[in-house]
Amino acid sequence: ATTLGAAAQQSGRYFGTAVAANKLGDSTYVGILNREFDMVTAENEMKMDATEPNQGQFSYGNADRIVNQARNQGKRVRGHALAWHSQQPGWMQNMSGTALRNAMLNHVTQVATYYRGKIYAWDVVNEAFADGSGGGRRDSNLQRTGNDWIEAAFRAARAADSGAKLCYNDYNTDDWSHAKTQGVYRMVQDFKSRGVPIDCVGFQSHFNSNSPVPSNYQTTLQNFANLGVDVQITELDIEGSGSSQAQNYQRVTQACLAVARCTGITVWGIRDTDSWRASGTPLLFDGSGNKKAAYNSTLDALNAG
Ligand code: G3I
Repeated sequence: ATTLGAAAQQSGRYFGTAVAANKLGDSTYVGILNREFDMVTAENEMKMDATEPNQGQFSYGNADRIVNQARNQGKRVRGHALAWHSQQPGWMQNMSGTALRNAMLNHVTQVATYYRGKIYAWDVVNEAFADGSGGGRRDSNLQRTGNDWIEAAFRAARAADSGAKLCYNDYNTDDWSHAKTQGVYRMVQDFKSRGVPIDCVGFQSHFNSNSPVPSNYQTTLQNFANLGVDVQITELDIEGSGSSQAQNYQRVTQACLAVARCTGITVWGIRDTDSWRASGTPLLFDGSGNKKAAYNSTLDALNAG
């Protein structure tokens, strides 16, 4: 196959990208989007601050632009993200206790209900584990409402949209030996054992020289899959250039293809100039929209799988 999406479909997988609503008027951007990708994630437009800027007043304009563009082109959508300690609207940031818990659950319910039937998978909870060697939860206003806030969010999401896969999504959980990876693993194991509705785990996979693609990446994906969840690579970008970057993209792609329950890969932007990383060249297309070596190695890996 000659495009990323078509190549991924050969093994029943998808290949997606993050999309920004304010770039949908850029014909180079939209041309690559429509040609190459079969899954879309809103880069910022479905976050809590975007969808509920005032408490109880929901705002879906930019998110709908992305969802409608994708669906009109026959693409599926990953929803990102229903509950997160970051990107909370101002009114939520200083809330606590029962009021915050109820506001969070209402948000999950309202947004998942609004998009019911249109979302392949939701990142229900994003980045709830701490960095470092502890392996525990990240401190946040949501965490301080009680350790069960994550499962409460998943139950609310399931009740609102029983057709969407429900994912936990995080970064720096790619290395199997990392305490954060182990902490998330134990949570998913616990959820599965108690029947908390969780269907998938997202590995953001933002890689750079400080956080390279770990040698045990495939092991991590497989170990999570063995718990009975799908795994997805949800925000892939890899700093670098030329053949070393191309090799890293190839390794990540091969790792997903080697794990039966790795259902797809999403890159976090289209061109290098679309990346959240202010400087650097972490994506598959250069600033002019030309395919990079990393594009070719990724496509080759998908076609070989
Ligand atoms: O749109 C406004 C613009 O009007 C304003 O002038 C400008 C001034 O700061 O800000 C613009 O908004 C920025 C927005 O990106 C759009 O560019 C926000 O400040 C900025 O905070 C926001 O950053 C996003 C970041 O999440 C916020 O947490 C990045 O685009 C987005 O790529 C990044 O994505 C996250 C995932 O959601 C979760 N995992 C990590 C990943 C990378 O950080």
